[in-house]
Formats: sequence, structure tokens, C-alpha cells
Amino acid sequence: MKKNQWALITGASAGIGAEFAKQLAAKGWSIVLVARREDKLQELKKSLEGQYAIECHYIAKDLSEPTANQEIFSYCQSNNLKIDMLINNAGYGVPGDFDAVDWKTHQQMLQVMLVSVTELTHLFYPAMKARKKGFIINVASLAGLVIPTAGHTLYGAVKSYLIKYSHSLHLEAKNSGVHVTALCPGFTYSEFHDVNGTRSMVSQMSKKMWMTAEDVVSQGLTAVKQNKPVYVNGWRNRMIANLVKILPEKLVRVLMSGSIKKYRKR
Ligand SMILES: NC(=O)c1ccc[n+]([C@@H]2O[C@H](COP(=O)([O-])OP(=O)(O)OC[C@H]3O[C@@H](n4cnc5c(N)ncnc54)[C@H](OP(=O)(O)O)[C@@H]3O)[C@@H](O)[C@H]2O)c1
Repeated sequence: MKKNQWALITGASAGIGAEFAKQLAAKGWSIVLVARREDKLQELKKSLEGQYAIECHYIAKDLSEPTANQEIFSYCQSNNLKIDMLINNAGYGVPGDFDAVDWKTHQQMLQVMLVSVTELTHLFYPAMKARKKGFIINVASLAGLVIPTAGHTLYGAVKSYLIKYSHSLHLEAKNSGVHVTALCPGFTYSEFHDVNGTRSMVSQMSKKMWMTAEDVVSQGLTAVKQNKPVYVNGWRNRMIANLVKILPEKLVRVLMSGSIKKYRKR
């Protein structure tokens, strides 16, 4: 990865997204931060520009708004920001059973975590291809590789979509100079479980199952540099993803039934 290039990161006000911004700025990348909380973005921009010889822009935007993606693209065009790395990271979980959650909440989640990821890629990818260089990381999840669960109904489905879609694009982009990677973290320390109200449930889980955002991000940057189509963070999570592939689903369901109930809010 060359220095003095621009990376655009969604969900950059906290957790994994903010960590991507910090690690890329430390490597000399200039950054465009996207999220809703303007105060957090302003603070991060100030801190990154104070620490490193880079430029940082921020766009305070709600990605559940259907016009947000085009507005982000237009902002980059008008400011002549040529995006060489796109990190589609914004996301959250919606607890509850499918019919207990109102349609607007489902629709907004699909817009942020599925439509926005796909549309932003559709907007920024052609210029990367034309320049014959670029990196796209779609932050998916181990949840997209394991068996479906009751509760948080759309989360695993959306993350499975991201994995398949990223893999297809990765294959299409072969020899184009653009690297595409679906990054699949397991449990990671961030604001994620505070936002979806499961902190007290998941904090009962063994600390061995948790990773830091620092590790998730540094592994993710290596994976996209090496042009891995799908990268699962951590050997424990990789072992789970591999066991799910080879064991019969019935057996996996029995093995996981206890933990699914403990960590899914219905
Ligand atoms: N933490 C985990 O255990 C874990 C595991 C696997 C995968 N992941 C995935 O990792 C990604 C990052 O999550 P995280 O753990 O870093 O969670 P986090 O700390 O809660 O950060 C989520 C980010 O998404 C942004 N966001 C949420 N809704 C948005 C919207 N409507 N418009 C724009 N930005 C929005 C938030 O910013 P604002 O609130 O300021 O808008 C925030 O910056 C997600 O895709 C998540 O599914 C997380």
C-alpha cells in the first residue's frame, strides 16, 4: 500500500471503524470519516491531523437515508478526493424476533448494512479499476459463516450476503489491481454490544473469545493487502468457521444451542 492516498471509512466514529482510521493515518493515509455523530468525527479528525502528517475530512451522514451514498460520493468528487481504499464498516445489530421489530427498523438496517455497502462500492470501484489500484474491505462477521439463529433475524443473513457479494467482486476484480476482502471478526471490544443492549449477556462469555479492535484491524489491513477474498479474525473464530463447514448442521446446532440462547436477545 502506498502512502499519501485516501481511505474512506464508514462507521468511523467508534470501535472498529475509528481504529481503521487510526492505523491507516499512522501509515500515512489521508482519511474521510463517515458516521452520524459529528462531535466524535470532529474529535477524531483533530486527533489524527495533530498526530500525523495527513489530511482528514469528515462527512456526518446517516447511511439509512437513501440519498446518503450519492451525497458522500459527490462530496469526494467536488473536493477532488480520489478514494483508493473503501472500508464499508458501519453496522449494528437489531435484537428481537422478526415480527416484533417494526418494518422501518428492518428497512433502515438493510439500507445501512446491505444497500449502502453495495452502492458505495458501485460508486467508488470504477475509478479504482480505471487507476488499476484500490482496496475494498467489507466488514462482515463470523455470524455470516455460522448457522442461522433465532433472534437478531436479519444480522447473520446480511453478513452472509456481504461475504458472498465481496467474494464475487473479488473474483471479478482479479487482475484489475483492485483488492476486495470480506473481513469476518468474531466478538470484538467496541460500542457494538452497548448499542444493541446485549452487553450484560455477552460479558458472561470467556475473555478468550474476545478480540481487540486493534488486532481485528491490523489483521484486516494485512488480509486486503494480500488480496484474501474472505478473512476470519483469530484462530478460535477460524476454527469455528471451519467446524461449521465440515460437521453436520444438526450436531453444530446441538453444540451451539446453549451459547445461542445466552447471547441472542429475543
Ligand atoms: N463488535 C463486534 O463484536 C463485531 C463482530 C463482528 C462484526 N462486527 C461488525 O463490525 C462493524 C463495526 O462495528 P463495531 O463493533 O465497531 O461497532 P460500534 O463501535 O458500535 O461502531 C459502529 C459504527 O457504525 C456507525 N453507524 C451505525 N449506524 C449508522 C448509520 N445509520 N449511519 C452512519 N453510521 C452508522 C456508528 O456511528 P454513529 O453512531 O456515529 O452513526 C459507529 O461509528 C459492524 O459492521 C459490525 O456488524 C462487529
